[in-house]
Amino acid sequence: MNRDALSSETRRLRKPRSSQVRPESGYGKVDKVKQKTLILGQTLGFRADPFDAEIGEAAVFERRGGVLVENGRIAATGPADRLLHDHPKVAVDDMGDALVTAGFIDAHTHYPQTAIIASWGKRLFDWLAAYTFPEEARFRDSAHAGRIAERYFDLTLANGTTTVCSYCTVHPESVNAFFSAARKRGVRAIGGKTCMDRNAPDALLDTAQSAYSDSLALLEKWHGKGRLGYAITPRFSPTSTPQQLEALGALWAEHPDCLMQTHLAEQTDEIAWVGELFPEARDYLDTYETHGLLGRGAVYGHAIHLAPRERDRLREAEAGLVHCPTSNTFIGSGIFDMAGLVSSGQRVGLATDTGGGSSFSMLRTMAAAYEIGQLNGSAPHPAQLYWLATVGSARILGIDGFVGNLTPGIEADLIALDLASTPAIAQRAARAETIWEALFPTIMMGDDRAITKVWIAGHPL
Ligand code: GUN
Ligand code: ZN
Repeated sequence: MNRDALSSETRRLRKPRSSQVRPESGYGKVDKVKQKTLILGQTLGFRADPFDAEIGEAAVFERRGGVLVENGRIAATGPADRLLHDHPKVAVDDMGDALVTAGFIDAHTHYPQTAIIASWGKRLFDWLAAYTFPEEARFRDSAHAGRIAERYFDLTLANGTTTVCSYCTVHPESVNAFFSAARKRGVRAIGGKTCMDRNAPDALLDTAQSAYSDSLALLEKWHGKGRLGYAITPRFSPTSTPQQLEALGALWAEHPDCLMQTHLAEQTDEIAWVGELFPEARDYLDTYETHGLLGRGAVYGHAIHLAPRERDRLREAEAGLVHCPTSNTFIGSGIFDMAGLVSSGQRVGLATDTGGGSSFSMLRTMAAAYEIGQLNGSAPHPAQLYWLATVGSARILGIDGFVGNLTPGIEADLIALDLASTPAIAQRAARAETIWEALFPTIMMGDDRAITKVWIAGHPL
């Protein structure tokens, strides 16, 4: 795909260099927008987890609300009338009936798989071999990595995703390309070098030693710089020797403020293979646990086919699980047990898993999570879906104090959603009597056309 093939929406959101945010030092610091702005519209945030509390208690909805933005952060929220009264001279950005919320947070994605999204007919191992590994091998070329990273952030921002946590490839160049593209746009982003020292093509292999030293160098270069964070990233146990897992466990112990991301229990033949590769292990999770790769700040993609011991240990460790519903159906992995896991106290976020996942859109991802919930006997409420795509993902990434909600003090990464973005959605929303009835058609049928405006640290794109 060349740049001309990008949607007009994407081009509209691409901004000139001069208007881009230049973050200051410190993870969590944002650049300053000097002027105060009051964004008006319908507003939606959360004061509690809607899986724990009543929806009416958990969600904070204003039919005519406002978000006051100052110095790149949310300064106040509430009814529009009150904010206009309290701040009579403020610049107003009136979004009318659009729904203003936090931007989406995609907690597990592979930006290098952008160009092979929607590749036909394979399951995990042959999908990796046929499509993914050949494409990832191209990231040895930093020009290619740079092009795809730019394209990836254009696509995610067009879809209202303001923070991603991405795998890069085995090549350090791919990590530099990812963070450079994120920094250029001022977005909060987390990423890490994928580590693999077996069961992959030679061109994609590192070693236990080089995985440690390359990850360390990249972490020192990028972690905590502006809004960027590093995630130590063993791809999954089948592609790492015990020595590599051990080395990365040691690196995480030395840098516990970084995340650790990997894959867990996605497909049943993957679990069987892990059993053969690690005959001593009690289960799949144990291959991580025994090497120091389980704890708070560990983020496991998929976690579909979990044994009772794995569930217990994940909960005790307060690890994060990432539900990737479009991926789970697209590559035929299985049914994630959202209701069972959240009701037993697991911490869950939501993600596209691009390009095993078949969409860049977190709206489409919420729709898929709804459909999988239905197949599993429990339909998630729109408030729960929206919470997962914002606060839930932020929480498992340890950034819920920075982004993912409309809480005063946090960074103003915001989106405005048109709840009538297509004729089909508009005619259904016209009958809505509550915000949830008005929002659900956009969750189920919406895409990047619903995203009418995106603000990064208070800057409109
Ligand atoms: N397991 C190991 N690598 C991958 C990957 O790139 N995508 C998915 N969906 N699962 C994986
Ligand atoms: Zn993945």
